[in-house]
Amino acid sequence: MTIQTETLSQVETLKTKYEQAGQGQVFQFYDELNVEEKARLMEQLLEIDVERVNSIYQKAIQASTVSHHNEQVEPLTKDVFDTILTDDEQPTNSRKRKYKDIQDWETLGLSLIAKNQVAVILMAGGQGTRLGSSAPKGCYDINLPSKKSLFQLQAERILRLQEVAQQYALPQQQKVIIPWYIMTSGPTHQPTVDFFKQHQFFGLDEKNITFFEQGTLPCLTMDGKIIMESKGKVAIAPDGNGGIYAAVQNKGVIEDLKRRGILYTHCYCVDNCLAKVADPVFVGYCVSKETDCGVKVVRKTKPDEPVGVVCRRGGRYGVVEYSEISKELSEKRDPEDGGLMLRAANIVNHFFSTAFLERVPEFAGELEYHIAKKKIKHVDISTGETVVPTSNSGMKLECFVFDVFPFSQHFSVLEVDRKEEFSPLKNAPGTGVDCPETSRRDLISQHIRFVQAAGGTVKGVPSHITDASQIPDDCHLEISPWVSYAGEGLSDVVNGKVVVTPAVIETRQDLIKVTHH
Ligand code: UTP
Repeated sequence: MTIQTETLSQVETLKTKYEQAGQGQVFQFYDELNVEEKARLMEQLLEIDVERVNSIYQKAIQASTVSHHNEQVEPLTKDVFDTILTDDEQPTNSRKRKYKDIQDWETLGLSLIAKNQVAVILMAGGQGTRLGSSAPKGCYDINLPSKKSLFQLQAERILRLQEVAQQYALPQQQKVIIPWYIMTSGPTHQPTVDFFKQHQFFGLDEKNITFFEQGTLPCLTMDGKIIMESKGKVAIAPDGNGGIYAAVQNKGVIEDLKRRGILYTHCYCVDNCLAKVADPVFVGYCVSKETDCGVKVVRKTKPDEPVGVVCRRGGRYGVVEYSEISKELSEKRDPEDGGLMLRAANIVNHFFSTAFLERVPEFAGELEYHIAKKKIKHVDISTGETVVPTSNSGMKLECFVFDVFPFSQHFSVLEVDRKEEFSPLKNAPGTGVDCPETSRRDLISQHIRFVQAAGGTVKGVPSHITDASQIPDDCHLEISPWVSYAGEGLSDVVNGKVVVTPAVIETRQDLIKVTHH
């Protein structure tokens, strides 16, 4: 009896709160629900900070209506931008780094990994709507000969790097460990954890893998009203990959980083099959420049490529979307080298010092939220009927991981080779762009290049391929990242010899077997 009275008063208090915030519609069908449904809805509503939701909406609307057209957009200055491109396509300029620098960065990165000071944070909370798979994107099989998932490729890169870095560790030191923090969200959390368990954590020690859930926000109608997915459930969505900052604070990740003595983190997207997880070159580069917040970019070569570009906007570091700049500005060339002025295409691949992650709450209140208009399944508040819209019916509010750039005190940007490091999986099979087929093709081409760079030949493939289209469709060569992270460790087997395909190389023994004079 007491419980019921208390619950009733709790319902009334909450109802008043939502009504005062102009969001009373969330109780529209409350009286029709059964006891369990009522309890579940109450639980959900209690967790939502309705005033915060309203204020985020107001800020997002304001930001979307403010014109950025008068804001000055400038390219990055040389003190914050470096490139590792050494190929002939690279116009000569003072930003070009010598091989020696890259090697030094790599050595520094590996020695920091060897000191157990580097961890990896994976952003895997997205819902992957464009891809259209019901499972988390990391579980996706891009149809490699081995059938490995994206998660497995990344896990094997960590395993290999731990092994490589071990050679840089002091003799008395314990094992090299690269802890892996995996950010999930409501929809991806349990399936992700289950997938790792099913696959015995892909050979990694489960003690060094932490799954943590990012926050969510209610979905809103175009005029800011909270949407009900069903009569007893608010429609919610992850709060964008920028949700990482609040989540590392709230879910004990920062504490764990500090407990382990981690000073630096590499943070990347689940959907890039070429992601160099914990890349020692990037880590070494950033640390050598005392970076607190760093980003990898690839070269934008065509003015009309629809990518975000890292730049200075209004005097602060940031990302400008293709749609936000004039044609004239996107076509502008650097007089020194003839390349595009705004060339630093963002690939959502970051470096953060632990100290920087800890500092985010100081400016978190200033971070922007962005509106993503979506088709959101909902219950019609006036009729109670379920509506599956065919056009955008509402919005999700998202914060982006790059929204913190303006607050960095030591910002650095490293340009890397697109074909070696970036092939995102965004779209459904058969779409031809950033889809499973392009991911597979880009990874297989990389493995062929590994063999060729190590002095070997891949049977039936022209030497020194420059384009993935030069690879015959039936050439199946896959080298486990556990055997080679970035092409290292192959030359003693393949130099001057021929690798016969099809070949799925899981061990050095496998490589020896398929290599002939
Ligand atoms: P995208 O913005 O490409 O989103 O995410 P997505 O979920 O993969 O795909 P769509 O837009 O629904 O089709 C880029 C990266 O950010 C992560 C994703 O998991 C991916 O690694 N992400 C995105 C999060 O971790 N949380 C989010 O709320 C959104």
